[in-house]
Amino acid sequence: MSEPRQILVTSALPYANGSIHLGHMLEYIQTDMWVRFQKLRGNQCIYVCADDAHGSAIMLRAEKEGISPEQLIANVQAEHSGDFAEFLVDFDNFHSTHSDENRELSSMIYTRLRDAGHIANRSVTQYFDPEKGMFLADRFIKGTCPKCAADDQYGDNCEKCGATYAPTELKNPKSAISGATPVLKDSQHFFFKLPDFQAMLQQWTRSGTLQDAVANKLAEWLDSGLQEWDISRDAPYFGFEIPGEPGKYFYVWLDAPIGYMASFKNLCARRPELDFDAFWKEDSTAELYHFIGKDIVNFHALFWPAMLEGSGFRKPTAINVHGYLTVNGAKMSKSRGTFIKARTYLDHLAPEYLRYYYAAKLGRGVDDLDLNLEDFVQKVNSDLVGKVVNIASRCAGFIHKGNDGVLVGGDAAPELTEAFLAAAPSIAEAYEARDFARAMREIMGLADRANAWIADKAPWSLAKQEGKQDEVQAICAQGVNLFRQLVIFLKPVLPLLAADAEAFLNVAPLTWNDHQSRLENHQLNAFKPLMSRIEPAKVEAMIAASKEDLLAAQGNTAPVGNGELGKDPLSAEIEFDTFAAVDLRVALIVKAEAVAGADKLLQLTLDIGDERRNVFSGIKSAYPDPSKLEGRLTMMVANLKPRKMRFGISEGMVMAAGPGGEEIYLLSPDSGAKPGQRIK
Ligand code: MSP
Ligand code: ZN
Repeated sequence: MSEPRQILVTSALPYANGSIHLGHMLEYIQTDMWVRFQKLRGNQCIYVCADDAHGSAIMLRAEKEGISPEQLIANVQAEHSGDFAEFLVDFDNFHSTHSDENRELSSMIYTRLRDAGHIANRSVTQYFDPEKGMFLADRFIKGTCPKCAADDQYGDNCEKCGATYAPTELKNPKSAISGATPVLKDSQHFFFKLPDFQAMLQQWTRSGTLQDAVANKLAEWLDSGLQEWDISRDAPYFGFEIPGEPGKYFYVWLDAPIGYMASFKNLCARRPELDFDAFWKEDSTAELYHFIGKDIVNFHALFWPAMLEGSGFRKPTAINVHGYLTVNGAKMSKSRGTFIKARTYLDHLAPEYLRYYYAAKLGRGVDDLDLNLEDFVQKVNSDLVGKVVNIASRCAGFIHKGNDGVLVGGDAAPELTEAFLAAAPSIAEAYEARDFARAMREIMGLADRANAWIADKAPWSLAKQEGKQDEVQAICAQGVNLFRQLVIFLKPVLPLLAADAEAFLNVAPLTWNDHQSRLENHQLNAFKPLMSRIEPAKVEAMIAASKEDLLAAQGNTAPVGNGELGKDPLSAEIEFDTFAAVDLRVALIVKAEAVAGADKLLQLTLDIGDERRNVFSGIKSAYPDPSKLEGRLTMMVANLKPRKMRFGISEGMVMAAGPGGEEIYLLSPDSGAKPGQRIK
């Protein structure tokens, strides 16, 4: 046997300002399957990740929620960790980029780069929000497209005509944060001199570290010459201050990849057998893999290797890039209910269904992957329930009934045993190459052969005949042995199914090499159904709940103003039933008060006839004296899922029109309407 390999694996660090969705899960599930495969093979494989906690988006969101950034990232980290754990993504460590280890490593790497002459600094002119007192990143500036005159376009590109431009070219620019007209202002910025690494990168990106499609894309940038990279941001910013440069912060993308090292370092403190330097020193023989989506290739395949090279650390062995998830053939869409959060999925469906579906469709390429929900139901039911689990459920009963659960009988199908053994190296090769789709095809091919063999032997018919008991036992023993081998091959994808199968088989946790042995004269445990079929109604309920997520977000937390209501994400047509499902009522505002600590919210007590509701609504800017609302009638959505907010639970939503700010108009019924009456 060859020496076990030492492998460090990462997935991209999810931003700490939003929930994990099924697009993210494509990456984390894929990485986890690869890591589990390595562990199953007996390699030392360490999987680390972290929340990406810095940047102005996180700072602004915390501000909007009225909490500190530290509190926000702690909340989100708890949410993310829970989602990943339930999807069976088994990190060795899930850390945060806002950590001591990351602060130290970021300072160290920056200082080394600076001392080696790889940092430049010069003045940059940028838009500045005079009201908010901060420089504005392109996405926080909105205005009229200089090319097609479309309104409400972002600072760097037009969604209408596709033009790209500098924010200074935008007509009538406005800060998306305060609405103020931005002014131009100078500031010193720090730059990482990427061109110093041109030759190294030219060579490194062509040395088998990247998929061909990715290397080709990068060659376009490399050939046109690399630019210096702006790595600093001015206060106010949530991040690490640059050593020796008060008021200047590392741009989030500078310390984010260093977060991989920091998470590993944090783990080393708990696992004495792990040596940080052995994995990260320049001449390390350990392997290092980053799994990422195609949108962040330049950060990982240009900036990151250059930073590592320039600061005396090793570079990645390979960067494994995947495409984007689409659902039912289109970009995930909130209004269609296909923008599915990890949590929403887990509320309705088992994690292994999705793990298997992703595995069945994931190749080595960077193509997008479509989650077609009909195909999902069909494929999981037919492959996992119909083929794999079916083998065990067909055979187990006869062994329990006919022989007290003791599996006896030699090899009843040598050609099948041989075929299963012969397939193992090729399946392993497919896993190693991240060609999960091929691995799944080969495994299901074996399952088909096993099922065909059992169907041909028909133990259920033999069992009714005299004197065929031994034959029945031999067939079923063979079936269970083949099932056991399939479970080993599928274990990286289906760890829960494997654990349940191990319990039924009454064996220690299976490893890859166990596929070479078989069970003989072995007591089985009772058989419990290992996996049930996906009911299509569950998928529909998940879609409906994803639409509700959107309504809840709009009703309770989306800021009124900022143009977000104006965007009309609900413009897609809905069925009458969907409309009829909304319980609209006349409501009497019994009480209306400001909420301590919230800029935009009013707390309303609403009388809807038979009960009272507590609702938080973002309408304070239009009703500075809330008591004036008391005693008036309005309309509310009474069956909106209650939503827990920092200030309490919001039990519905009141209806208002208008662009926001002072222009918010609560709707009212004609006089004569009574609280609690349904709106039809
Ligand atoms: N914080 C950065 C990564 C820093 S790594 C040092 C980031 N975060 S992210 O939350 O936006 O994305 C995390 C990962 O999920 C990225 O690899 C990204 O490509 C991937 N995906 C996000 N949406 C996705 C889909 N819809 N489909 C597939 N992968 C997707 O980028
Ligand atoms: Zn335009």
